[in-house]
Formats: sequence, C-alpha cells, structure tokens
Amino acid sequence: MLLRGGGTLLLAAGSLATYAAGQRCQSYTSYSQSRHQPYSEGVYELAYQRPDPACRTFNSSLVEDAILRMKNQTTDPDLFRLFENTFPNTLDAAIKWRGVAANNSDEELAFIITGDIDAMWIRDSANQIAPYRTILKSKDDDIASVFRGAINLQARYLIISPYCNAFLPPPESGMRPGPNGASYIVTPPYDRNIVFTCNFELDDFGGFLQLSHDYYTQTGDVDFFGKFQWIQAVQSILRASEDLRRATYGPDGEWIRPAYTFQSQTMTSFGTLGNNGMNSPVNYTGMVRSPFRPSDDAAIYDFQIPANMMLSRYLAATAAIMEQLPNAPKGLAQQMRDMAAEIRDAVDHWGIVAAPGGQRIYAYEVDGFGGQNLMDDANIPSLLSAPSLGFVSADDPVYKATRAFVLSRQNPWYCAGPVLNAVGSPHIRPGAAWPMAAIMRAMTADDDAEITQAVKEVLSSTDRYGLIHESVSSFDAGQWTRSWFGWGNAVFGQMMMELAERKPHILKQSFQPFFIERDGE
Ligand SMILES: *[C@@H]1O[C@H](CO)[C@@H](O)[C@H](O)[C@H]1NC(C)=O
Ligand SMILES: *[C@@H]1O[C@H](CO)[C@@H](O)[C@H](O)[C@H]1NC(C)=O
Ligand SMILES: *[C@@H]1O[C@H](CO)[C@@H](O)[C@H](O)[C@H]1NC(C)=O
Ligand SMILES: *[C@@H]1O[C@H](CO)[C@@H](O)[C@H](O)[C@H]1NC(C)=O
Repeated sequence: MLLRGGGTLLLAAGSLATYAAGQRCQSYTSYSQSRHQPYSEGVYELAYQRPDPACRTFNSSLVEDAILRMKNQTTDPDLFRLFENTFPNTLDAAIKWRGVAANNSDEELAFIITGDIDAMWIRDSANQIAPYRTILKSKDDDIASVFRGAINLQARYLIISPYCNAFLPPPESGMRPGPNGASYIVTPPYDRNIVFTCNFELDDFGGFLQLSHDYYTQTGDVDFFGKFQWIQAVQSILRASEDLRRATYGPDGEWIRPAYTFQSQTMTSFGTLGNNGMNSPVNYTGMVRSPFRPSDDAAIYDFQIPANMMLSRYLAATAAIMEQLPNAPKGLAQQMRDMAAEIRDAVDHWGIVAAPGGQRIYAYEVDGFGGQNLMDDANIPSLLSAPSLGFVSADDPVYKATRAFVLSRQNPWYCAGPVLNAVGSPHIRPGAAWPMAAIMRAMTADDDAEITQAVKEVLSSTDRYGLIHESVSSFDAGQWTRSWFGWGNAVFGQMMMELAERKPHILKQSFQPFFIERDGE
C-alpha cells in the first residue's frame, strides 16, 4: 500500500485514543466517521463535526473570533457550517503535541499529524496551518506559536533527512513512535526511529519556505529565524536541490547515479520508482527533480513544473529574511535568489510547451529531453494553483491557456459530472473528482459565476458530513474517500477567508439548490 499524507491506506488504522484533561476523547479519525448533531438548517443538513471543547488539541481565541465574524458574513447556513467545521479543524484535531526542544527551552516545537497515523508530513503540516495566516497579525498571537513550532520541527527534519517526507514524533514528546512504514530500499539511508516515509517530494521544500514566508510577512518577526536551526535548514534544502538538479549523463556521456533512489514493494506502479529506484533519466535544465508528486505518487518525468514554480517563488521570497540575519553565512541570500532565478528561467524555457491544439501551455512534468506530460493533478502545488503560489499572474496568457486545458477533457484527470466538476488524481482513479481542486478553482477565478458554481459543488459533495473529502465520484456524492482529510479542510477554510476579503458579496448568496423546495417551515 502507498502511504499518503494522512493516509488513504493505512496501517491497521486503529482508533488510537487521545486523552485531554484526564477525560477520554475519541480519536478524530473515528469521530469524523459519524455525523454529529445539531445539523445545519439548509437542505444539506450538514453535521457539526467539531470535537468537544475538552478534546480539542489547541484553543485559539483568534480562530473563534474569525468563526463568529464569518457567521455574520455568510448567509447560507450550510456554507457557514462547512466553514465552522473545516477552518478550525487542524487546531481541533491535528496538533498532536507541543513543547520545546530538549536542549533549548526557547525553541518551540509542534508535532502536527494529517490523519490517523502519528506521523508528521512536511508538506501537509505546512498546508494545514497555512490558512491561519489570514488571522495572524503579531508574534504574540496565540496561533503564532503553532507556526513557530511547526517551522522549528520541520527545520530539524529537513536537516536530518532532506529527502524524506514524513516523520515520527520527536523524542521530547515522549510519544511512543507508531509502526514505521513498509520496507523500502532508499539511498541515502535514513534513521527509521526518526523517519516515517522517505518519498522525496520537492514541494516539501516549497511548503517549509512558504510557511516561513507567511509567518515573517504577517508578524515581521525576523529575529525568530536567526535563533534556532532555520538557516541550517535552508542550507540543507539548497544542498539537496543542487544534488537533484544534476543530469543523468555527465559531460563525457558517462552515467551518474542520482543522489536519491527509492524502491518499495507495492501493488501500485505509482508507489515505487522505476529503473531500479532511479526513475527516468533527466537532462540538465536548472530545475530540481521531484521523483514523487504532491500526491505521494511517483512522477513520470522528474521535473515537476508546479513544485519548481513553488520552490522558485519561495526561495526568492525568503531570501529577504536571510539577508536580514546577522548570523547567516555571507552570500547565502544571494545563493537563494540565484537558484530561484535559474529555476524560473528553466520553467519558462522547458516547462512551456505546445499542446495538441497548438496553444502554449505549462506541462505538468518534463525531463529536459523533450519528454512532456500534459495533465494536472488535484494536489497542490498544481498547475491550476500557479497564481495562488504567486508564481504567475492569473491574467498571464500561458496560465490562461493552461487553465482552459486543465479544466477540460484534454486533461486526462479532469472529472466531470452532475455532482462535482474538478481535477482528480491518479492517486485515486479516473472519475473521482477532488473537492480540493474545485476549491483551488474558486481561489484562482475572478468570475463570480465560476466561483459560485465551484463553491456550490463543493458544498453539495460532503455527503452531509460537513467535512471536505479527499475525492468524490463526479456522478455520486455517496462515493467518496477519507472522512478526515486535514489538508482539504484547511484549504476550504482558507478559500472562505479569502472570499470574505476579495468577494464578500458571494458569501451573501444562497447556495441552496434552486430546484429543492423546503417544506413546512
Ligand atoms: C481547550 O479548552 C477547553 C475548555 O474549553 C479545555 O478543556 C481544553 O483542555 C483546552 N485544550 C487545550 C489543548 O488546551
Ligand atoms: C455583525 O454585523 C453587524 C452589522 O454589520 C455588526 O454591527 C456586528 O459587529 C457584527 N458582529 C461580528 C461578530 O462581527
Ligand atoms: C540543539 O541541538 C541541535 C541539533 O543537534 C543543534 O544544532 C543546536 O545547536 C543545539 N542547540 C543548543 C542551544 O545547544
Ligand atoms: C540537454 O541540456 C543541454 C544543456 O542544458 C542542452 O544544450 C541540450 O540541448 C539538451 N538536450 C536535449 C536533447 O534537449
């Protein structure tokens, strides 16, 4: 089985009980599998899925205030309920442990799980707290500590094993590490007492840098980055990225073994890397290989365009932090800017290709030899999300042509039907649309009708659970995967917060299906 952030799979998914304030609390994995009262008052009758206050894993008055404000800003009772469940979800259920480093009581740590395994994915944890940047204003805010704790722990992991993507609880937590993933053959080797899985996914670097950028821009707290291991983590990212830009063949044509290889025993071809763990050969482009995608699936071609866009954008953005740190090695900020610019040039040069209709679009993956994979996947970073990553403007002609391609039958992973029209992912199957991709469509659209339609479809696709599923059959809202998908919940919360700023009138609309009449009341 393929291990996935928060896990489609999972190891004997046991309902590990958590304890809060001496009271026995159900694990959120099992809690989210049934619908709790009171139901919302629209036709969708969405369940109330916030755990009992005593069982919540972090309390934030800022988040509670945001929920109250949103109640005022939304007209539709079902839409508000979906926000009320999803926006606080990471804090309600996923902050498994918070504390400080054993050797430095000023260094906050936060261990954030994505689902039913006690493991922390770098990318998922970054995405799970990213929505709270919309309410983060100062380093003294309650929520600021969660950002710092996540950044510090991610930094530690990125220094120890930059090629790995999911990690076990830190020793400081006293948590017993759960079972480790399946047997893998991976180079470089890693410590199985620290690492949970070791699929190298380039967007882990982007996720860490984006989170750092968010914390810095919202709080202005630049000192934080010089105090602990952030500088070393960025150096580790640069080193690994440099290693993974190398071509398969050297100047004299000799074969060069890649810095990272991965093999596992699996039922799915996307769970391991072909070619004895090395994946397909690449030419030098300036981009960085990502043998695995943001879905945790193996890539067909290693230069994943969206992950390179994300890395380029956030390396450039966080160079602005680095250059302010008195203890940063000289030239490091410039090194970040240089790599960011080289990657951007390579994306423009190698990543923009001709579609069958002749239009110029971004490919999803390329190899630098002319190989190109034209598709998009729901998982973020995706091509659809490029403006949201801040890499390109939504008005850019290449992005617009790419968007039209991605949201059409030309994209093999576009799923259309009466329930949900959105990009899906080979991680599940054709015909299973991902609500997260419909949410991203709304976040990157300017047209009110397009946004409204996407939000309507997402709202209608929770099967009355009031949480965002991973995937939903585009023809049957009753067929879905994962009752608890932390990342999807987070992105929905973020979309609502952004719409409240950008398009407040949309939140004043009714999202009830017009053809259903409510009787009686
Ligand atoms: C959150 O607040 C509730 C009381 O409303 C309390 O019982 C619970 O322990 C708090 N959770 C944390 C993690 O502090
Ligand atoms: C709700 O909206 C009203 C009118 O716009 C305003 O006076 C009130 O302060 C708002 N309440 C909250 C909690 O935002
Ligand atoms: C704590 O340990 C880390 C990892 O070994 C090290 O890099 C850091 O400098 C240590 N911090 C202190 C204050 O000793
Ligand atoms: C491989 O990359 C080199 C240098 O980046 C370039 O000159 C060459 O044309 C590329 N090879 C192919 C087959 O595109």
